[in-house]
Amino acid sequence: MATILERFSLAGRTALVTGGGQGIGQALAHALAEAGADVAIVDLNEETACAVAGEIEALGRRALALRTDVTVRREVEDAIARILSAWGRLDIGVNNAGIGGWADAETMPEEDWDRVVAVNLRGVFLCAQAEGRAMLEQGYGKIINTASMSAHIVNRPQNQVAYNASKAGVVHLTRSMAAEWAARGVRVNSISPGYTRTALVGQVAHLVPGWLKDIPMGRMAEVTDLQGAVVYLASEASDYVTGHDLVIDGGFTLW
Ligand SMILES: NC(=O)c1ccc[n+]([C@@H]2O[C@H](COP(=O)([O-])OP(=O)(O)OC[C@H]3O[C@@H](n4cnc5c(N)ncnc54)[C@H](O)[C@@H]3O)[C@@H](O)[C@H]2O)c1
Repeated sequence: MATILERFSLAGRTALVTGGGQGIGQALAHALAEAGADVAIVDLNEETACAVAGEIEALGRRALALRTDVTVRREVEDAIARILSAWGRLDIGVNNAGIGGWADAETMPEEDWDRVVAVNLRGVFLCAQAEGRAMLEQGYGKIINTASMSAHIVNRPQNQVAYNASKAGVVHLTRSMAAEWAARGVRVNSISPGYTRTALVGQVAHLVPGWLKDIPMGRMAEVTDLQGAVVYLASEASDYVTGHDLVIDGGFTLW
């Protein structure tokens, strides 16, 4: 049998990361490439997708930048088709694109609810479905969905009913697809990050001291704190793991 470090290697694998143009997705794309995979950056923002694809190539891997809206089935299927035609197979799908949305439940407009659920839940379903079809055909694949600790707890002081519900949906969608595909070689897992320092947090800096009081480790996550989990779940080292949600929150959900 291969050594444990060999089983963590992603050499020769092909991957995609949705929302890979910035923030957490960018860091996950770097991690997959550093571990040996070729990576397609699937993002609504073509400019950032191209920039990150350039960074992947600078690491010595193949890369694609695919402008895609994950809420549109045709665009998702087209992105997967382009990866298959360029690289012949898809081993790893990281479904990470997501949006926030703070609103009080009693006044939240229906359209805002629909948009959050469309990107965070339906988008993950459409991507996982299209990836799963290719992977079931191959008899092997790894799907990793980005949920959130908000799938498990209710954040405070900000109100975000649609976000929390959509992320809880991602965790159970993950478990449901994992059960359907377990016997056919396709593993489906999720990660649940806690508060992570990305560009978004700059806009709500006044809330950070309050959040820190609720984090046993006393700090927010850096995007690099999430990289190891995704390499593990993408690699052969986790082949007996499916339907699992890996919480990475500095202990937040312990209190
Ligand atoms: N930052 C945090 O504290 C935190 C914590 C837990 C979970 N998350 C989750 O991690 C994921 C990434 O978060 P982030 O902080 O890096 O966000 P971000 O806003 O920095 O990046 C999101 C990326 O997704 C892309 N995107 C948005 N809508 C899209 C669509 N319809 N189709 C394709 N791409 C789309 C954006 O263009 C962007 O590149 C999200 O699912 C988020 O809910 C974030």
